[in-house]
Amino acid sequence: MLVYVLPLLLSHPQQAGSVQAPQPQYTAEQDHKAMMDALHIESIRPGKNGMNPRDPNYANYDESKANPFPTLPDPLVFKSGKPVKSARDWRRRRTEIVEDFDREIYGRVPRHTPRVNWEVASTTNENNGNFKVVTKKLIGHVDNSSFPSIKVDIQVSLSTPADAKGPVPVIMEFGFAFPAGPRPGGNRPTGGPVRAPQGSQPGGGGPTWQQQVLAKGWGYATITPNSVQADNGAGLTQGIIGLVNKGQFRKPDDWGALRAWAWGASRALDYFETEKAVNAKQVGLEGHSRYGKATIVAMAYDPRFAIAYVSSSGEGGAKLSRRNWGEIVENVAGSGEYHWMAGNFIKYAGPLGWGDLPVDAHELIAMCAPRPVFISGGALNGDGWVDAKGMFMAAAAAGPVYKLLGKKDMGTTEYPPIETPLIDGDVAFRQHSGGHTPGPNWPTFITFASRYIQAPG
Ligand code: GCU
Repeated sequence: MLVYVLPLLLSHPQQAGSVQAPQPQYTAEQDHKAMMDALHIESIRPGKNGMNPRDPNYANYDESKANPFPTLPDPLVFKSGKPVKSARDWRRRRTEIVEDFDREIYGRVPRHTPRVNWEVASTTNENNGNFKVVTKKLIGHVDNSSFPSIKVDIQVSLSTPADAKGPVPVIMEFGFAFPAGPRPGGNRPTGGPVRAPQGSQPGGGGPTWQQQVLAKGWGYATITPNSVQADNGAGLTQGIIGLVNKGQFRKPDDWGALRAWAWGASRALDYFETEKAVNAKQVGLEGHSRYGKATIVAMAYDPRFAIAYVSSSGEGGAKLSRRNWGEIVENVAGSGEYHWMAGNFIKYAGPLGWGDLPVDAHELIAMCAPRPVFISGGALNGDGWVDAKGMFMAAAAAGPVYKLLGKKDMGTTEYPPIETPLIDGDVAFRQHSGGHTPGPNWPTFITFASRYIQAPG
């Protein structure tokens, strides 16, 4: 009870109408604890240590111990036990899967979310390498008339080739849209290994991903996830989630940051649908690591996105949660990362276990079907934490859904040698030999994507 009473008391000044009153502030630990109380959970199992091999709780990197729950939920069997036999059946089965992801894993987006009013803050003609582009800085003002003390302005940057013959395809990255502006701080979850900064360039300093995309005649965009929702549990009573909840704590099946970030991307797509320079039917998404998770979530939930490049998404993304390799459910359920997910997800770190998850990552990938998805990870040495093989296995297990819908799976269920592109089907995979970065797989993704999206003329 205390859980819901406390914030009400603390937020009383707003309710009394004084809009300027500061938001009640909680630490991530306090918010996490409040959610555990709401779930009647006293303690959860600890996450793996990704740093110290001498810790008895060091992450597992031994394949013989990696599959404690080898049987996955079958995407092609209804909850009733009946088989899914047609595309029509799949539409109904997909609804069951979506409900499980909504309630237990990523949380529900509220039925009514506020309107977003897009402002073109600036339009600039500029050069990117040898390419001339038109860059628009966009601000999505979220209607906060329901709770004026929380303000959300979504930051997006859009660049399209200046000499385009018509509306162009656009690849949108989850990243930092306004590099010169304020960069709201993210968190550094505990447990995971310390990695090199995220790069977007292939080794040897070749063209950036934006230049590779421009070379195809496509445009590129960036959305700042933190402008939609902070990347920490302390921010859950603020941002878009806090705005809709009027500054109160989440309910256990309320949305987490991944769905909030994905919601922001969908709002950017709303804007692109009104933008003459963009072919909104050919907008792809790309994101790395936690933003790789946001990418697969956005792609799975919004059928308007044409294609996705899901880089090193790991646990909570394209990796099977039933795998014991690198990062595990317990890490994501802890106070450094639980804000990405629905509160209910915490249950699977105790009292429940991985085998109790009603759905797993292969069904998230299957939600994207029949649209093309490229799943990417780096080498074991450097990107082991994200479990490239666990992501491959999820992509393979999504294959039957693609086939049912008349599309092609990866063509194999056998884990390929590193650097083997599996891009002949509609669900695709490649493990590159770099570390925790999307850089080395951009050329492979662009080759794959070229089958689906084309510049005008
Ligand atoms: C940590 C976390 C991962 C996440 C990564 C990142 O390592 O454990 O789940 O993907 O941070 O976003 O950089």
